[in-house]
Amino acid sequence: MAEFSSFKTRSFTTKVTPHIVYANFSAYTSIDPAPPLPLQQNESSELVQKLRSQLNDQSLPLFHRYRAMFRLRDLGTEEAVLALATGLKDPQSALFRHEIAYVFGQLCSPYSVPALIDCLRNTSEMAMVRHEAAEALGSIGAEEAEEILLEFESDKERIVRESCVVARDMWEFERSGEMEYAVIPGNVQSTI
Ligand SMILES: [Fe+2]
Repeated sequence: MAEFSSFKTRSFTTKVTPHIVYANFSAYTSIDPAPPLPLQQNESSELVQKLRSQLNDQSLPLFHRYRAMFRLRDLGTEEAVLALATGLKDPQSALFRHEIAYVFGQLCSPYSVPALIDCLRNTSEMAMVRHEAAEALGSIGAEEAEEILLEFESDKERIVRESCVVARDMWEFERSGEMEYAVIPGNVQSTI
């Protein structure tokens, strides 16, 4: 596993999912489309593996797979993040892969960075999924993401190009240690 010495944890997120199917306020202040599966007494490795297989089980309803996804997000351990990353290879649903990238943007874990970079680099992937991977990389602010965000600012897909521009702005903010995303200069602030 690569080292992420430059990783910076975000203390909160303000993202709100746009596709509200089921109102469930999460630990991330978002309204998730499905509630996480219930917490277990024993948050063991066995549980993570069970959640991982539910996450990827094509025979389960998408709603249940989303519940496994949000439980893994809320666990947030390295093992849980690596389990979530397997969902980026879902063979059927771009929406599902997009949602995995979205929760990685919420989670801001350095362990998701290699999978997100692979996703953004994969030009066969749907633009919507790559867009979300770019934004997650911007939110995480890992050092190794800058180069790839710059590279794909010239992607042939407009949504990817624009997402990389926005993500690099987010990335610079995350690296800067500023308290506000858009800092209003003092002389402008006094006229508001
Ligand atoms: Fe999105």
